[in-house]
Amino acid sequence: VPTNVDLIQEINRLKKEKNAIIMGHFYQKDELQDIADFVGDSLALAQQAAKTDADIIILAGVHFMGETAKILSPEKTVLVPDLNAGCSLADSCPPDAFEEFVKEHPGHTVLTYVNTTANIKALSDIVVTSTNAKSIVDSLPKDEKVIFGPDRNLGNYLNSITGRDMVLWDGACHVHEKFSVEKIIDLKKEFPDALVLAHPECKKPLLILADYVGSTAALLKFSMKSDAKQFIVATESGIIHQMKKESPDKEFIPAPANDSTCACNDCEYMKLNTIEKLYNCLKYEWPAIEVSEDIRLEAVKPINRMLDISE
Ligand code: 13P
Ligand code: SF4
Repeated sequence: VPTNVDLIQEINRLKKEKNAIIMGHFYQKDELQDIADFVGDSLALAQQAAKTDADIIILAGVHFMGETAKILSPEKTVLVPDLNAGCSLADSCPPDAFEEFVKEHPGHTVLTYVNTTANIKALSDIVVTSTNAKSIVDSLPKDEKVIFGPDRNLGNYLNSITGRDMVLWDGACHVHEKFSVEKIIDLKKEFPDALVLAHPECKKPLLILADYVGSTAALLKFSMKSDAKQFIVATESGIIHQMKKESPDKEFIPAPANDSTCACNDCEYMKLNTIEKLYNCLKYEWPAIEVSEDIRLEAVKPINRMLDISE
């Protein structure tokens, strides 16, 4: 692998030569966000994957994000720098058990968060992301019976803001569940003017305490528009890179986790991707995401329903 400076040059050269696009999620390392042609939340990445005319999509994010891109653009090569970049939330929803859960609730619309494997999407009626979840739930008739999975925190939050009673799958993200409400209250004493921004994957007490709850894209936008100068950020720390870029005069404090022995607000899956792995995957066009055609044909329907509603 060449030196870091050459790496950036080489990535840019190979990208043009191969007609590749690099898409990065807000939770990626700073240097990956900076080299990406497009940085966004999971909805924006899916929308971009559906419309790009690149031959190769490099999805600097986790496996389900690459899978969603491949489901939408099967004719393209979709690469993820490290295929081990999984997701604890997607893992908390195994397809066999979820299929049973769906069978136990006949007559229910199956709404699933995008953080799932292709097999779960294939069992779903509509996919949502945290950016569009509320408007998609609101678009369903009030008396429609709904199953929501896999995130119990997002599901509870959606039930509370839409007045629904969706039946929830009991899954969660290990990063968002680790934030400490007690330590955030202590921080608020230290920085009384700071606003608390939280992703809806966080637990209920934190969502109640937060000044603003939203997807990564929504939190970023809020931080740009707000008159506040300090923010306590309760989501994966990668988003702070874009927040600082957009508002260099404001201060962003990562929310502390319960366990002070680890950098718990880093998603270790997201952080598996590196600039060296990105270079290798562009050069060797490997590792590629594959989805079997029978699963893809089922999984694309609920994703397209989401994209149609979110236009
Ligand atoms: P967003 O849809 O807000 O980008 O969230 C993705 C994610 O993985 C949250 O943990
Ligand atoms: Fe999955 Fe949580 Fe990582 Fe998001 S932060 S990719 S939900 S493990």
